[in-house]
Amino acid sequence: MLNKPSQPDVSGPPDSGLWSVTNPFLQGPFEPLFNEIVVRDLEIVGKVPVELDGSLYRASSNQHARPESPEKFHWFDGDGMVHAFRIRDGKVSYCNRFVETDGLKLERAAGRPLYNGIYGATGKAQRDLPPGAPMIKSVANINVIALAGRVLAMHEVDSFYWHLDPDNLDTLGKFDFDGRFNSMLTAHPHFDPATNEMLAYGLNYQEMFVECMSFSPAGRVTSHVKTDMPIKAFVHDFIFTENYYIFFFGPLRVDPYGKDTVIQGNGALSFEADSPGRVLLIHRKSGAVKWLETRSFTCDHYLNAYELGDKIIVDATVTDTMIPGAHVNAAEFFPFPLVNEPSPFSGPQLWRLTIDLARDSVSTDRIGEFGAEFVRPNEGVMGRKHRYGYMAGTHAPAPDNRGFNCLIKHDYETGRTQFQHLCSAYEMLPGEPIYVARKDATAEDDGWILAVWYDPRRNASELVILAAQDFDGEPIARIKLDHRVPPGFHGNWIPRSALR
Ligand SMILES: [Fe+2]
Repeated sequence: MLNKPSQPDVSGPPDSGLWSVTNPFLQGPFEPLFNEIVVRDLEIVGKVPVELDGSLYRASSNQHARPESPEKFHWFDGDGMVHAFRIRDGKVSYCNRFVETDGLKLERAAGRPLYNGIYGATGKAQRDLPPGAPMIKSVANINVIALAGRVLAMHEVDSFYWHLDPDNLDTLGKFDFDGRFNSMLTAHPHFDPATNEMLAYGLNYQEMFVECMSFSPAGRVTSHVKTDMPIKAFVHDFIFTENYYIFFFGPLRVDPYGKDTVIQGNGALSFEADSPGRVLLIHRKSGAVKWLETRSFTCDHYLNAYELGDKIIVDATVTDTMIPGAHVNAAEFFPFPLVNEPSPFSGPQLWRLTIDLARDSVSTDRIGEFGAEFVRPNEGVMGRKHRYGYMAGTHAPAPDNRGFNCLIKHDYETGRTQFQHLCSAYEMLPGEPIYVARKDATAEDDGWILAVWYDPRRNASELVILAAQDFDGEPIARIKLDHRVPPGFHGNWIPRSALR
């Protein structure tokens, strides 16, 4: 193992291993990892399929410097660290690196934190920044994708993505589409297998528009549509069908670049209890726009969507508002809180949303009784009817931290739900499950599920490979690390053949 401390910390590692004894986002599995580590040949229990030739890249939140207000630190504000599990010939190696964003480099150079978080409201105005510094800190902690043969890490407040070396994860620079977009680009682009395009959107809350675009595999823009946005809706993800880009807007508003929000220590979010939920459909080719109203809830992530006659079926995870009409300080109660505290929001749930284009209506149905997040499909069926959804979730007995305790496979055809807890004590904490199709697959679930799990007994993580058709059976491989991978958000399997 090569174990290289990262560049000197702004304030050094925490004395006691903790910066806060009360903030759950700085403790246990969430405690930051300061070392950049390379492991050549990981211990494998079981057998890694030799067909797998590529890397699982994961983005995680990993705060580098002691926050100015540790009690207010939010999980979403941690510096981005990317973890790569490289698989070839049945062997697995690993490395992790911070994404060297402008904000991280400036804080290192200054020897102290300079930026407020976007979500964790401190109530303290941000310090004066050096000339040319970005106004808010991009942390590139949300997702990692491949485009144009490159590995790109991403946040959702920039007009570019961060270009990483696929092997050692060095930050090589910004991938900015030649400066074409003047908007905050999503960290949730999706791939349309029917057209072989990447679809994405960008938001601009100074000029109040949303733009949607598609890209060829080489990263060239293949279409671009744009429309006005009447509200500063918080939008973290979108979904698409053959003909539409689809957005759901709930009660949250966001304005990271506002003069009274992040730089004043007030957080970027606000909560609008009295407004209806809205659905925005943008035609992919013509840019024609249709707005619908629905009851207000927050769509967190989308599994998939498809057209069925006059209807559009959308499967998603949703955070419901438990106290309709309540006025909530969103800076204190972000939905999806993984803490065991009273909250005006539900935990995340699996919902089916049906848009009826003939009646201009939206209906909602909750699926199952379990908690569910980080939904992923077999991406080969996106935009068309799917049968299966995979997700992280909570299932009885619920964990005490509102975190996850299982992976879930839901069969929309039969209604069957399967749970994988990995241990009978329900204490392992899984991350997002990534589906990887077997070459020449004969069914939608003929492939593997790759996910990183945290084991509190070892204070360490492991990559677990499940056969998707034996979802609740014994894993086919457990690949052990000696250190934890702090829980993060998203990532992707990138085959070696997809990289230059
Ligand atoms: Fe996300």
